[in-house]
Amino acid sequence: AEALRVGIAGLGTVGASVARVLKSKSEELTRQCGREIVITAVSARDRSRDRGVDVSGVEWFDDPVALAQNADIDIFVELIGGDEGAARACVRAALEAGRHVVTANKALLAKHGLALAEIAEKKGVLLNYEAAVAGGIPVIKTLRESLAGNTVTRVFGILNGTCNYILTRMEAEGISFEECLKDAQRLGYAEADPTFDIEGHDTAHKLAILTSLAFGTKIAAGDIYMEGISNISQADIRAAEELGYRIKLLGVAQRTDSGIEQRVHPTMVPTASVIAQVHGVTNAVAIETDILGELLLSGPGAGGNATASAVVGDIADIAKSRPGFQHGPVFGRPAKELRPYKKAQ
Ligand code: HSE
Repeated sequence: AEALRVGIAGLGTVGASVARVLKSKSEELTRQCGREIVITAVSARDRSRDRGVDVSGVEWFDDPVALAQNADIDIFVELIGGDEGAARACVRAALEAGRHVVTANKALLAKHGLALAEIAEKKGVLLNYEAAVAGGIPVIKTLRESLAGNTVTRVFGILNGTCNYILTRMEAEGISFEECLKDAQRLGYAEADPTFDIEGHDTAHKLAILTSLAFGTKIAAGDIYMEGISNISQADIRAAEELGYRIKLLGVAQRTDSGIEQRVHPTMVPTASVIAQVHGVTNAVAIETDILGELLLSGPGAGGNATASAVVGDIADIAKSRPGFQHGPVFGRPAKELRPYKKAQ
């Protein structure tokens, strides 16, 4: 089969990791997909920066929209981030041009996911976003594909690696919030603007996507009660500890008699509970359903490799897909058929 040509927009922590994995695992991926996957075009802000990846011989675009529209590619991979501006424009342009898209951009999907899904479905191309929620944990596939037939009653978890890393180290080592945040930034876990992590926005973006998949409703990122961890002090952590609890930033979405409830806030969880054992940058997602019961997935939630793992999986899925043999609609059912979101009273 012909090689699958990939264009990558954004060569930050995640983009550079994806490029490295595609190169270093090239033979393995070719065997698994039955065709070679090659990066043929890239776009980033600064051409001269050393990112530890060799992009010589790859077509360079200063403008990601131009890459999306004009490059010789089969898949457009958006790793720029942000819900407006370049990221939105180039994903739209790629879908309109009839190209498959892979993105890790939770903020973009939380805000414009439905509109983008409609374009993808109209054009008959795939829009894959496993990396957008809980890093390397395959939770999108789980909700969209593996749990077919199940009625989900609740989905909740630790969805932000930066916050869980901060809370874990504050508890275990007694060090300050600020110092932990600096380390999380240095390790490439935090968002470009870490306010998104610590004030709960990033968890809310991911929760909004999970809610839509779990309950078959339109994405409602604006209807999430949100409280972050920036006010959590050592004293709070010690007080919780004395009572037999740990503090975790949780995102929770559940079906109630009056509608759907979505919330993000620091939560006291019993020290002996499974969720309290999720340490550091690890994320965890619990899904409760009528047929299966309770499922708990946990794994690396942020950072270059965790995110690259999910992005490469999405690319490989497209490499293996054949027309008429795909995973189905972007959000589990056609975007036009998603039910209106009804807020719990
Ligand atoms: N800043 C995010 C986190 C990256 O810490 O979880 C992964 O989405």
